[in-house]
Amino acid sequence: MNKETPYNKEKIKQRLAVSGEHIVYRYGKDQVIKFPYGPIHLVDKRDSLNKIKSETPLIKKYFSDFIVAYEILFYQKNKQKTYCIIQDFVKGRSLKLKDKKNPQIKAQLKKLIKANEKMARQTGYVFEFFGIKNLFFHFIFKGMDNVFIVKDKIKLIDHGLISSQTKITRSFILRLFIRWAIKRQKKLLNYYK
Ligand SMILES: Nc1ncnc2c1ncn2[C@@H]1O[C@H](COP(=O)(O)OP(=O)(O)O)[C@@H](O)[C@H]1O
Ligand SMILES: [Mg+2]
Repeated sequence: MNKETPYNKEKIKQRLAVSGEHIVYRYGKDQVIKFPYGPIHLVDKRDSLNKIKSETPLIKKYFSDFIVAYEILFYQKNKQKTYCIIQDFVKGRSLKLKDKKNPQIKAQLKKLIKANEKMARQTGYVFEFFGIKNLFFHFIFKGMDNVFIVKDKIKLIDHGLISSQTKITRSFILRLFIRWAIKRQKKLLNYYK
């Protein structure tokens, strides 16, 4: 665990997004940097550290064809353990339901959903495809926030999984929400098959 900031502050450029779990900035010429942010991290800081540590090997194992290289740096901030993620910048856009009409994308979606189902069977985890906005309002946004399209190729830009079977102690409200999100996602994924 680094005691000093493990990233170069001077490389941090414009803010790209304040999303459900991270605040994202351009970093240097062709990377992004993500810092944990928002209610989920406030509920339990230790949880989010454990979560990211345990999920990374699963993402690498099941989604190797789709991941965008990323590195997690752990360090101390205000005497608390925290982390940041440095990832290649992806020049693309988020996947929309209508992209299914493209046979190349449809074939990759099939592979992606199959990989997710395999991981669910073997580990109890699922990839978080949609993002909160789409989980609630898919009928408006009709897409997946965490799946990007780059030249007809699917890329997973997020690194978060969800599991109802997690041993990690989470607050009751959060557990209820996770259970709902898993069911909701399963239903929405049927549209993409
Ligand atoms: N590697 C990347 N390249 C380009 N944009 C990115 C990248 N990673 C994240 N973003 C942008 O930041 C948003 C939030 O990033 P994400 O990793 O999904 O954070 P969260 O964990 O909060 O959902 C994405 O929806 C996307 O618009
Ligand atoms: Mg996301």
